Amino acid sequence: MQSVDSAAEQAEFDRKIAEEQKIEPTDWMPDDYRKNLIRQMSQHAHSEVIGMQPEGNWITRAPTLRRKAVLLAKVQDEAGHGLYLYSATETLGISRSELIDALQTGKAKYASIFNYPTLSWADVGAIGWLVDGAAIVNQISLQRTSYGPYSRAMIRICKEESFHQRQGYEIMYALAKGTPEQKQMAQDAMNRFWWPSLMMFGPHDSESAHSGRSMKWKIKRQSNDDLRQKFIDQTVPQIEVLGLEMPDPEIKWNEERGHYDSGEINWEEFYQVINGSGPCNHQRIKHHKAAHDNGEWVREAVRAYRAKQNQKAAESAA
Ligand SMILES: [Fe+2]
Ligand SMILES: [Fe+2]
Repeated sequence: MQSVDSAAEQAEFDRKIAEEQKIEPTDWMPDDYRKNLIRQMSQHAHSEVIGMQPEGNWITRAPTLRRKAVLLAKVQDEAGHGLYLYSATETLGISRSELIDALQTGKAKYASIFNYPTLSWADVGAIGWLVDGAAIVNQISLQRTSYGPYSRAMIRICKEESFHQRQGYEIMYALAKGTPEQKQMAQDAMNRFWWPSLMMFGPHDSESAHSGRSMKWKIKRQSNDDLRQKFIDQTVPQIEVLGLEMPDPEIKWNEERGHYDSGEINWEEFYQVINGSGPCNHQRIKHHKAAHDNGEWVREAVRAYRAKQNQKAAESAA
């Protein structure tokens, strides 16, 4: 049975959620709300950071100086998104090293799309356009999430995501309107990234393990299927502008629904990739570990600096 105190706290929490007020780090919150947020926010942070790898792979091979500068800025933005989100997750009482450990040991997940390889320059275009495009649809909705630090991080992140989406579309546009070989590269990249982009919204609502409670707590504001439909509806006309063939032959405008119909996602592939058997899962984590280990000297310097400051403070207090 709940004590009088915790019943009052629960009631206060419920009132805030009902009235669309944000929950802040010092507010009381149910344990499961906290756990659910840590899972979702850290998964989001890991996705931003792991997502730097497939694109970072092309920085040295970008076709022009301008493309290189834009891609560098974009990949750096993703590092920044990871930092905002790790910091926001830490406000829930978990440390950065615990979060990184969960990623590296496979306890925490990240977006399955980043386990696919980037085979050509057109893939950088397809990622910016489709992957960042799908991320924006999700993140715009998360700007209204009930946890204050997460919501504020999303507002900042969305501003940068729309630039990411545009730079990707611009790459696709240049290729699609270029030589037949370039157009074919664009078509091939879109075909490969289309389905994994749709998978980014997660399983169907009926299959989604965490959706119900997350919606109740207003952590999630729109369902996976609604967000996926929104993405399809906004992207199909962009495919038409590019003059590319649809990546899914079942895409068709449905007058009655006022939405595009589309084919069924291969969910078996989704679960395989999420559970570690995608083409690049092993490589992504291996690279993350190596980069993290290489950065040990920075953490060591921070610790040494902190110890020195503490010592100075102790001396001046004495
Ligand atoms: Fe991002
Ligand atoms: Fe992005």
